[in-house]
Amino acid sequence: MAHVLILYATSEGQTAKIAGEMVNHLREMGVGATRKDLESWPGIYEASDFDAIIIGASVHFHQYPKEIVAWIETNLETLQNRPNAFYSVSLSEAETSDDGNARVEDYLTRLIDHTSWQPDYVASFAGAMRYNELNGVRQRVGQFVSWRTGGETDVTQDNEYTEWEHVRMFSAEFANYLKNKQTTA
Ligand SMILES: Cc1cc2nc3c(=O)[nH]c(=O)nc-3n(C[C@H](O)[C@H](O)[C@H](O)COP(=O)(O)O)c2cc1C
Repeated sequence: MAHVLILYATSEGQTAKIAGEMVNHLREMGVGATRKDLESWPGIYEASDFDAIIIGASVHFHQYPKEIVAWIETNLETLQNRPNAFYSVSLSEAETSDDGNARVEDYLTRLIDHTSWQPDYVASFAGAMRYNELNGVRQRVGQFVSWRTGGETDVTQDNEYTEWEHVRMFSAEFANYLKNKQTTA
């Protein structure tokens, strides 16, 4: 059975939650899956122990965390030698206007240009706004980002915009891709 590593970088937890949903769904489809927070990487694992790798990262201040970008650069060969994918988590994805799409496109293009990684699959998911995890300037910026994307600006409650069906479609597509690769190998 193929085993997928989902390695993610998160600030308020939504990228981790999405990784958790993917792990459950991949397992339901008969694919082994483990999720790991980059903060506690490498622990007992090596990326090369896995048959496939999915990287997840959320956007803050128009960029992905520099730690995950550095990890991609350092592990580019390992990534490219096996089935791989990237998922982006942002509030711009929740925005229905062209501005939101353009911003997501820009985040992804800059990551790909910077690392030279061409993921086999790329997905962009709407995230959440966890005001309760934020304070001071970060909460204010979070509120502004929510307002800009047409989201909730009441800081007394957290809001989730992720479309779980979209996440499950992505993991199903990746599982099928893996299975096809294995049968043609
Ligand atoms: C301080 C702050 C800055 C953010 N900046 C952006 C941004 O520039 N673009 C964007 O699309 N989303 C932005 N977001 C929204 C996050 O991408 C969203 O909250 C996401 O779900 C965070 O994922 P995480 O919980 O895994 O860190 C920002 C959120 C916060 C709190």
